[in-house]
Parts: sequence; C-alpha cells; structure tokens
Amino acid sequence: MKAIVLSGGKGTRLKPMTHTTAKQLLPVANKPILFYVLDQIVESGIEDIGIIISPETGEEIRKAVENGPGWKAKITYIVQASPAGLAHAVKTAQGFLGDSQFLMFLGDNLIQDGVKKFVAEFQSKSPDALVLLKEVEDARLFGVAELDESGKILRLVEKPKEPKSNLALVGAYLFKPDIHKAIGRIKPSGRGELEITDAIQEMLNMGRRVDSHILQGWWLDTGKKDDMLEANRVVLDDLLKRSIAGAIDKDSHIEGRVAISEGTVIESSTVRGPVIIAGDCRIVNSFVGPYTSIDAGTVIENSSIHHSIILGNCRIRDMENLIDSIMGRNTSVSKCKAISRSTKLFVGDDSSLEL
Ligand code: G1P
Repeated sequence: MKAIVLSGGKGTRLKPMTHTTAKQLLPVANKPILFYVLDQIVESGIEDIGIIISPETGEEIRKAVENGPGWKAKITYIVQASPAGLAHAVKTAQGFLGDSQFLMFLGDNLIQDGVKKFVAEFQSKSPDALVLLKEVEDARLFGVAELDESGKILRLVEKPKEPKSNLALVGAYLFKPDIHKAIGRIKPSGRGELEITDAIQEMLNMGRRVDSHILQGWWLDTGKKDDMLEANRVVLDDLLKRSIAGAIDKDSHIEGRVAISEGTVIESSTVRGPVIIAGDCRIVNSFVGPYTSIDAGTVIENSSIHHSIILGNCRIRDMENLIDSIMGRNTSVSKCKAISRSTKLFVGDDSSLEL
C-alpha cells in the first residue's frame, strides 16, 4: 500500500504567509501541518510515500521534510506542473502509484487520531474506495456527500450552491487503482480543475463500491487565517503536555499545560497554558495566555498576548492585549510612542491589520 500527500497549490487564502512559505509548512503548535500528516501516514503502516509538490514551493517542502525529524518511510517527490486539481495530482502520480492501492492525504488537513483505523478498514473490507465524511456548518465550501437511510452514498458534488447534506468530504481518501480509470473519464469542473469528487462520483457511475465513514473526532482544514488559529487551539488543547526547560526566574509563573524548550528565558512573566514556546525565545515582563504558539528566537517584552501564532524571530514590544493574531517570521510590532494616537506601519503585500 502506498500514500500520496498533496503539497502543491498556491494557498491564496493564506496570503501574505504563503508569499514566502508553502501553506503545508505553516506551523500548528510550532510544527508544520505536513509533519502531522506524515506522522499519521507512517503510523498507519504505510512506508512508501509520494509527496506531490508544485514548481513554486516544492524545493522548500523537500528541504523541510529532509531536515525534519525523519520518518520510517521511503519518500518520493513528484512535481505537478500546474495546480489543475486533486484528480490531476493523482494522474501526475500515476507512474509512482502503478497498480497499488493507496491513501491520498491533503497536506493541509489535520484529523484527530489519524487514519490508521481507516486504512485498516479499507484493507479488511476491500471496497473500491473509502471516503471520510464530517458534519460541517457550511457544506458549500467542500465536496458534499448525499447518503441514503442505510448510509450508502448516493451522490457526491463538489462545492454545491445548495448542499443536499451537511456531510463534507474530508481530505483523506483510500483508493483501489480503478480510480485512474474514473479520472480518465471526467472533465474539468467550473473552476477549471479535475476534481477528485467528480472522479469518485464517476466510480459510483461505473458501478464500483464506494464506502464512507463519518468522523466523530475533529477535522481541521487549515486553508484560512481563522482555520489556522482554530487548528492551533484544538491541537494545543488536545495534544500538548507540560514540559518545562529553559530558564525561568523566580518572579515568573508558569501555569497549566505549558511546553517551553531549552534556551528560552522567561523573566517577570506569567505563561498560562495551553501554550508552547520554542527554544531561544525571551519573554520579559509579559503575559502569554492560552492557545498561543511562539516559535524559536522570538522576543516578547512588556506585552500581553493570547490565542495567537507567532512564528520565529519576531519582536513584540509594549503591546497590550494582542489576540487572534498570526505573525510571520522576522516581523516586529510595538506600540508607537513618538506621537500619541499615531500608528506607523511598514506592512507587506496582502497583509491585514485591525487596530
Ligand atoms: C478540496 C476538495 C473538497 C474537500 C476539501 C477538504 O477542496 O476539492 O472536496 O472537501 O478539499 O479539505 P479545496 O481545498 O481544493 O477547496
């Protein structure tokens, strides 16, 4: 059994972060989303993984994976020349996949408890495809499944204007090689892409057996800013364990589930978990509140912050109540002292500020 991970795409809804970073490498609890996906694939017993990359961000993905913690798997990189859809990505990977059955996992999706159980279910029940579904509030944003009373899939539609159910297709799919035949029979959708949803519908049209499984645990599709913050909150809540390294002075309070790495200094500050702070940070005279992830080398002084994601080497000074924020690497924010009530900005393209 093989797996492919889709790590191309432009990440347009996550600009400006995605001007410089592939969206699959954006961190949740200080760890790239893609790394959770690779962990979960390996955990399911699959050891032959193809990562589909784009010409634009492929090198960055390759470097990050090669410099990552290491996975017990053979990893092959496959370039998809243009973002022509998920089914097009499968087509691109056909040489790698051969006649294997495979797991396809979208590199920006996080699934509680992973996919081990579903891979095992696929292998034991042997349907032609197995899709995961999850109840969502706004099904118009996803591929949607219509089921009959017995739970059998009747129809799959990609981003319908008027969804017939609230069951979205989750970004992890299991296929037998017949999916390639189905992909060969579909046409590009209204958005000009070869949709995997249409290909699975085509499998149904061809009389193939498509099973579904409704997820009970959380599923996070990290495509937008608020989704990233939500993913960060859920993952910190669920997975973080207390572990304190670094130098914490006697005037500081570390409360609840907080992880602080070696090399970080905390002075006269309160950190209230769940919070993760990577190494080589300095937190001085500040409050770091729940659901905050701070990556390596960041300095926070005379500030309070919570429910935020701060990437590496940022500077935050004299900021009161910084909340719901995501700051990219090497950015700095401080209170303007020169003239009262003034704001000075030096902001890159596609940024958004609420002051
Ligand atoms: C893609 C699929 C959609 C699925 C979603 C899950 O959407 O086309 O069917 O529900 O992933 O994340 P996209 O991210 O391309 O909008």
